[in-house]
Amino acid sequence: MADSWETLKQECAACRGCALAETRTNVVFGTGAENAEILLIGEGPGQSEDEQGIPFVGRAGLLLDDMLEIIGLDRTKVYIANIVKCRPPENRDPLNVEQDACIGFLRRQAALLRPKIIVCLGRIAAKAIIKEDFKITQEHGQWFARGGVQMTAIYHPAALLRDVSKRPETFEDLKSIQSKIRELCDRTEV
Ligand code: URA
Repeated sequence: MADSWETLKQECAACRGCALAETRTNVVFGTGAENAEILLIGEGPGQSEDEQGIPFVGRAGLLLDDMLEIIGLDRTKVYIANIVKCRPPENRDPLNVEQDACIGFLRRQAALLRPKIIVCLGRIAAKAIIKEDFKITQEHGQWFARGGVQMTAIYHPAALLRDVSKRPETFEDLKSIQSKIRELCDRTEV
């Protein structure tokens, strides 16, 4: 039977595929336009996201909203999801075993969306989606083609909160994303 957003959301909400299910408050499935041409992928929910069940609603999320605004985007024009849908305790990096247990949900989200552009937010997403040996300090802002989809990674907004010296480079990366959207996306005005 063909997959659907409804089936996927229900399966994800009931998932007990790894130990993060024991400690989560909410599964953080994803948010945005279910026909978006642009998919943003973070790492995993933090405390605010776990409490509210929505990705990027804490301090990093506010910065992400500002970053989107710089290039004429907002949450109605993109889809936002994470590599893992449940909060890792103490906000540690998600373990490989947790990523492996969860990545199928993201793959199904991507298959339903069929985005033209994927933007990985930070190292963890870039390694899981673009290539295992991705070096965020050297390769952020570069474009990679995978299965007909253009992909790039930028610094995670939480990293930009910790280290403001990375913001000018990120501004350049955002401009590059805006150009790519203008080149490839027919339905997304930026
Ligand atoms: N950081 C992430 O990677 N994802 C979120 O949803 C929130 C913070």
